[in-house]
Amino acid sequence: MNYTFISGATGGIGKAFTFSSAKRGENLFLTGRSENKLLALKTQILEKHPNIQIEYFACDLTKEDSRKEMVEYIDKKGITFSKILLVAGVDTQMAFLDYTEEKVLFQIRVNAESTISLTHALLNRRAEKTELLSISSMSGVSPMPYFALYSATKAMLTNFFTALHYELKDKGVKVTVVLPGGVPTREDIIEDIKGQGLWGKLSSKSPEFVAEKSLKALSKNKLQYIPGGFNKFLNFIMKLAPKRLKLRFIARRWKKIKKDAF
Ligand SMILES: NC(=O)c1ccc[n+]([C@@H]2O[C@H](COP(=O)([O-])OP(=O)(O)OC[C@H]3O[C@@H](n4cnc5c(N)ncnc54)[C@H](OP(=O)(O)O)[C@@H]3O)[C@@H](O)[C@H]2O)c1
Repeated sequence: MNYTFISGATGGIGKAFTFSSAKRGENLFLTGRSENKLLALKTQILEKHPNIQIEYFACDLTKEDSRKEMVEYIDKKGITFSKILLVAGVDTQMAFLDYTEEKVLFQIRVNAESTISLTHALLNRRAEKTELLSISSMSGVSPMPYFALYSATKAMLTNFFTALHYELKDKGVKVTVVLPGGVPTREDIIEDIKGQGLWGKLSSKSPEFVAEKSLKALSKNKLQYIPGGFNKFLNFIMKLAPKRLKLRFIARRWKKIKKDAF
């Protein structure tokens, strides 16, 4: 049976994708780390959409064994995927020298390694026609001092899925990479957006907006989707601005923020 796979389903943006997909009558395969959160989410969705099938699997994406167990469960259930929505991610923000080795690996594993490894495993279990979406970030558009690792993992996703879009275009697979600006999900992100004043107001879009518009972009097989006019403009400006000026501007803003998502 065909399902929509959603990683990070228990997070702010993932939940919005989960509800948008349920509204479309799709069967759902949900993943996050917490069994309790996944069960609560399943119960909540079934109250509104009792006719869809929902499977879930608690998986720590940083652990190869945990990912392998999830894929084995998928095979045992005979599940194939007509939609793959890769949303999970972590956003540690601090000077690189303040990281521990463990924190470095954690962020690379969640944002980059697991996303790409899952893409491979899930594409090998795809339906005849499949749609694949990855949540990258506007933070990947330019290198970001004091947010360097997050920015680099997101740039990797943007490049990877953009190339994959082309590779898979004749194979019945649509691929879109999404680059959101601020999305008010967790309390700390809501505070960050507020703290950015007008900039934050202009660049942020709700999780529901991001999910709905991204799914529409995916169904049209758009190469990349940037939610919101201001962010599209910013993306354009970032490409034109001189590199050293950009680095100085970004460093000044981001030096003040320290956030440990570990
Ligand atoms: N919010 C923004 O402003 C913004 C902007 C641009 C891009 N993004 C990207 O959008 C995505 C979602 O962001 P969000 O704001 O919705 O974040 P969030 O609310 O913190 O959700 C993160 C999700 O990722 C999952 N996750 C984290 N570490 C994991 C691990 N080791 N194994 C399995 N799952 C793990 C979390 O699962 P648990 O429930 O187990 O914690 C949760 O479901 C991320 O990729 C983020 O980089 C966010």
